[in-house]
Amino acid sequence: MRVTCTVNGEPRVADDVWEGESLLYVLRERLGLPGAKNACEQGECGSCSVYLDGVLVCACLVLAGQAEGAEIVTVEGLAPGGELHPVQQAFVEAGAVQCGFCTPGLVVAAHDLLEREPRPSDAQVREALAGNLCRCTGYEKILDAVRLAAERMAVLP
Ligand code: FES
Ligand code: FES
Repeated sequence: MRVTCTVNGEPRVADDVWEGESLLYVLRERLGLPGAKNACEQGECGSCSVYLDGVLVCACLVLAGQAEGAEIVTVEGLAPGGELHPVQQAFVEAGAVQCGFCTPGLVVAAHDLLEREPRPSDAQVREALAGNLCRCTGYEKILDAVRLAAERMAVLP
């Protein structure tokens, strides 16, 4: 089947999509967007987090057909033109990136949180990121990164 959608503001078409194929597979293997990672493919790790019509989802759990006509934003879409989003910059500066496999999903999830709650408490950050697993950092640096991003985004115009 053919899937037509908007990805990071651009109209995109994927052909020969199998009915059981995930949105994650389409993004990575058909549309050349490897930012969302495929770690568990079971909705457990959050490494494939993207926005689907403005809602944070695990792309591995979304059937490609559900994306027909939808607006998708991936981690690549948070850095148009290659300039890092403040959340991405904060992850780098806070040392929240080690192997980096979890990072795109965490960045998208943190972005979603800060859009909804610009001044989150630590408990809100922990809750918002509870679905994103990281096997490297111990999470403290990730919390530091979200705090830093929140501070910086609060003073942006
Ligand atoms: S790859 Fe989708 S949640 Fe782990
Ligand atoms: S930095 Fe390696 S899994 Fe998070």
